[in-house]
Amino acid sequence: SGLTALDYGFVNTSATQSAITYIDGDAGILRYRGYPIEQLAEHSTYLEVAWLLIYGELPTPDQLGEFDANIRRHTLLHEDLKRFFSALPHTAHPMSVLSSALSALSTYYEGTLDPNDPEMVEINTIRLLAKLPVIAAYAHKKSIGQAFLFPDNSLSFVDNFLKLNFGNMAEKYDIDPVLGRALDQLLILHADHEQNASTSTVRLVGSTGANMFASVSAGINALSGPLHGGANEAVLDMLGKIRDSGEGVEKFVERVKNKDAGVRLMGFGHRVYKNYDPRAKIVKESADAVLDALGVHDPLLDLAKELEQIALSDDYFRERRLYPNVDFYTGVIYKAMGFPTRMFTVLFAIGRLPGWIAQWREMQTDPHTKIGRPQQLYTGAPERNFPR
Ligand code: CMC
Repeated sequence: SGLTALDYGFVNTSATQSAITYIDGDAGILRYRGYPIEQLAEHSTYLEVAWLLIYGELPTPDQLGEFDANIRRHTLLHEDLKRFFSALPHTAHPMSVLSSALSALSTYYEGTLDPNDPEMVEINTIRLLAKLPVIAAYAHKKSIGQAFLFPDNSLSFVDNFLKLNFGNMAEKYDIDPVLGRALDQLLILHADHEQNASTSTVRLVGSTGANMFASVSAGINALSGPLHGGANEAVLDMLGKIRDSGEGVEKFVERVKNKDAGVRLMGFGHRVYKNYDPRAKIVKESADAVLDALGVHDPLLDLAKELEQIALSDDYFRERRLYPNVDFYTGVIYKAMGFPTRMFTVLFAIGRLPGWIAQWREMQTDPHTKIGRPQQLYTGAPERNFPR
């Protein structure tokens, strides 16, 4: 009795109340704790936004200073955990490395993982923010066979991360400060997006009483799929294939419209944004600025713009209200920064981490929280007798 409506993909079902992020999909509005994404992207930093999402208000300069110093103090990984990476093939996808190393990281903190202990929640918040970028950089280094570098805690969050990735590639590390700012801005744009698939996963896992590391690790796996965070990697692969096949943008768009073998225009469409994605607008401007600053001319950016132009004037995309989403131009920027394509979704994960933490913490303190347990409509065989 009491079975609820069938709602594939939870298109019409709210699973929680939340005070963190507001989205109006028709109007193209995104706000964190009430602040418009455009203002945060222009004036704020990733760590300030992380504090805002997690604690609900902008930090005072003292609070932000202490938060930053605390994160810098916790960047080191246990030496034994570094050996964990050696057990994996160098061909391992960095997203798999990231989620498994994060699960493994929790084993160093057994006894301090209790989701109901506020002090433990605080320290694990700091540990995650400090160490996930280091694990991410090591996943990168592992994939290209280079030595792991020690974090340099005299540097800001993004500069430290860039150095961990490129510090022993002089030609790449000696780079324009525009890159640090651009990366910071991209992390801000990804920092939360209410109940998307990975955040819902973090909440579902957390609702069982699982610790923050286990919940975030599950979120990373949910993010890896090409319909979610994996789209930024898929966009670059798609652009590369269009260029290499020589088939031309129009022909490719025709194939998308005919749903040829399920081919989709990656980086287009969104479950909630039906007119435009406000993040995509900012990313598109940033792509031009970063490539200009680097003096890079990437034909894939031209191809992406051509593709966007053709899709936006086509009835198929107009009728379905499909517009570029945040992932359409991010890959071009990450590529220009020197990240390999398979690192793109890892960068998304670092960006989304404060949102996952904020949502997990909100869930833990919400008196209405129950273990997540959807219903189903059974369509299988009626009762029958075993034949022997
Ligand atoms: N290319 C071609 N057709 C599409 C696309 C696309 N990218 N997206 C949706 N459609 C079509 C779909 O085939 C369907 O057509 P029809 O009505 O003829 O059956 C219609 O549009 C509605 O699509 P849907 O799959 O029901 O929409 P959804 O809300 O379930 O899916 C989406 C949203 C983002 C998964 C989807 O638009 C998509 O697969 N986009 C490409 C992957 C992508 O860029 N994902 C990143 C999302 S933004 C970053 C993030 O937060 O994850």
